[in-house]
Amino acid sequence: MSDEIKKRIFSGVQPSGNLTIGNYLGAIKNWKKFEDDYDPFYCVVDMHAITVRQDPAVLRRRTYEILALYIASGLDPEKNTMFVQSHVPAHAELTWVLNCFTMFGELSRMTQFKDKSARNASNINAGLFDYPVLMASDILLYQAALVPVGQDQLQHIELTRDVAVRFNSVFGDVFTIPEGYTVKSSTKIMSLQEPTKKMSKSDENENAFVAILDEKDVVMRKFKRAVTDSDTCVRYAEGKDGINNLMNIYGAFTGKTHGEIEKEFEGRGYGDFKTAVGETVADGLAPVREKFASLMKDKAYLESVMKSGAEKASYIASKTLSKVYKKVGFVPRIR
Ligand code: TRP
Repeated sequence: MSDEIKKRIFSGVQPSGNLTIGNYLGAIKNWKKFEDDYDPFYCVVDMHAITVRQDPAVLRRRTYEILALYIASGLDPEKNTMFVQSHVPAHAELTWVLNCFTMFGELSRMTQFKDKSARNASNINAGLFDYPVLMASDILLYQAALVPVGQDQLQHIELTRDVAVRFNSVFGDVFTIPEGYTVKSSTKIMSLQEPTKKMSKSDENENAFVAILDEKDVVMRKFKRAVTDSDTCVRYAEGKDGINNLMNIYGAFTGKTHGEIEKEFEGRGYGDFKTAVGETVADGLAPVREKFASLMKDKAYLESVMKSGAEKASYIASKTLSKVYKKVGFVPRIR
């Protein structure tokens, strides 16, 4: 297929917190499969990250880290455009225009805004409120057809569609209407300490999540401490949230079904099972961790990927932005 007819994909990851195996299994690991048939754009969304306070030096380091993680997870920089959001000013520029096509009421209903303002009560800034409009701009600038995200982002995709439809109904077909793409819900990874809660990279309890870059001994320890139940039999059943979660994680890394896992651990206790899960996860992540470590030593290479990514992204984004500026009645800059 030629580039012209390949559908575009857009997704982004914030350079805040440590990415967990939930982020890996639910997102980045699944992106490789798109690279031959689509034209994928993956952004490190540093502008989104500053909606909550960040230490500037840490934000800078994490921006390199997310890019390294994309590549370490197997994304080929020749086939995937990877770039940093703040390198392409069109994201901020389109956000302003789309702000004028997004309703206060719509943004007030966003559950992520409500959650985050509850958690950051002393810093409910306008950026946090406007976050979904920046995200809509990310997606719409590239005329993306497909947006792979976690379940929790689907409400933002709905908003993006609503704003795009609204804009198009006034000005004609300016934006492609994107669709969210989520991996099947059985791979939703829960906290190891409170298995009814989603595994979160910002959990205060380090034992609740496994970071993609955790060393083997850390991974083993966290699984050993994982909360389970008083039953002794490894089986998938309602109410066994801890074991169900471990089975999902084990299944995601080995490709085994719940039935196969139950058979494998028949007559063996939770201790054995936890050790097996820990080993499988640690060994599964080892190649990513090793590639990541070597990439982080090669800043020049990462910067060359950032540079060409930003060039390619800017070219496409500025085409959309000029169209939008023209449609709303801005006089083109005289050159
Ligand atoms: N909001 C997303 C998250 O927290 C990150 C993100 C920003 C994103 N812009 C995007 C995801 C555009 C998909 C498309 O996970």
